[in-house]
Amino acid sequence: IQTDIPSLKDTVPFTLGAAFYRGATLGEHAKLINKHYESVTPGNALKWDATEPSEGVFTFAEGDALVDFATDNDLQFRGHTLVWHSQTPDWVFAGATKEILLQRIENHIRAVMGRYKGRIGTWDVVNEVIDENQPDGLRRSPWFNIAGLDYIRTAFRVAREVDPDATLVFNDYNTEFPRKREAMFKVVKQLRQEGVPIDAVGHQLHVNIEQAPASWIESSIQRFAQLGVEQQVTELDVSVYTDFVSSYATVPAAVLAEQGHRYKEIFDVFRRQASKLTSVTIWGVADDATWLSSFPITRLNPPLPFDDELQAKPAFWGIADPSQLP
Ligand code: G3I
Repeated sequence: IQTDIPSLKDTVPFTLGAAFYRGATLGEHAKLINKHYESVTPGNALKWDATEPSEGVFTFAEGDALVDFATDNDLQFRGHTLVWHSQTPDWVFAGATKEILLQRIENHIRAVMGRYKGRIGTWDVVNEVIDENQPDGLRRSPWFNIAGLDYIRTAFRVAREVDPDATLVFNDYNTEFPRKREAMFKVVKQLRQEGVPIDAVGHQLHVNIEQAPASWIESSIQRFAQLGVEQQVTELDVSVYTDFVSSYATVPAAVLAEQGHRYKEIFDVFRRQASKLTSVTIWGVADDATWLSSFPITRLNPPLPFDDELQAKPAFWGIADPSQLP
């Protein structure tokens, strides 16, 4: 890795993190993480399908390896994620009455959070539960269809009981879009008024080189500040495409430069709003390991500050030192 460049984490006034995957971490990515980040989030290792593939059978080898890596390297750790509609095994919903489902959530959270108590300081307790097209703003997932809002109440209550010191996050994507933002605002406000222990709102921020406007990102941070909740950016990346079908054989230098300027305008917002943000996590370490190379189609899509040879790109300079941008 390059040693003659600034450490990204030293250029920002909040905790800077990256999502990581075990295979990559055990290699050169570990060096990039140690130089540039102070927090890590596992891309997949702590999801329900990875940790409890069948009822009561827990598989922690992957999670343990990643948490050990973080502990050994003095990195903060964000747990991702306890309750989500995706990457959840079918058995969880099979034959479940409301009572059974809430018990399964409780058992899962007690086992997974309990294992890492004191070592994982922040947890995405619920992920992507908002649907702004529903009158009540709540996604019609199997969780909701079986248990209504109580699945969210149970998840946060149990999480607080298991580790009272952990920061509990309500995480979602597209929170920068006004309709989604308002739907989420209402739900979080109501639940907190009831006493549900939601400490923080997580903005995933999977954006592209054009959308959403930086001013919307800023408005969203300002809006949630009215609730007095902590806020984190949890999954930032910047797709080089503005649609779901285009595909470059080689990404033009001009597009990588545009991406660098886009990172700059987004980090300008974060720096201006730093008093309202505790952490920013980028969804990956380098372009050789990113979900966007297979979503929504397989295509070259380098969305991160380091390229697939782990070298700093314009996106890096957009964060670290915009005067170096092409
Ligand atoms: O491990 C298997 C491998 O055995 C198999 O051969 C291969 C073939 O498809 O798949 C591998 O699993 C993939 C897994 O990533 C590990 O690489 C899954 O197919 C793939 O679907 C999975 O994608 C993950 C995605 O969540 C799935 O929901 C991404 O890595 C992960 O970055 C992404 O992260 C989500 C957040 O959790 C929530 N917010 C959105 C974000 C991006 O989608």
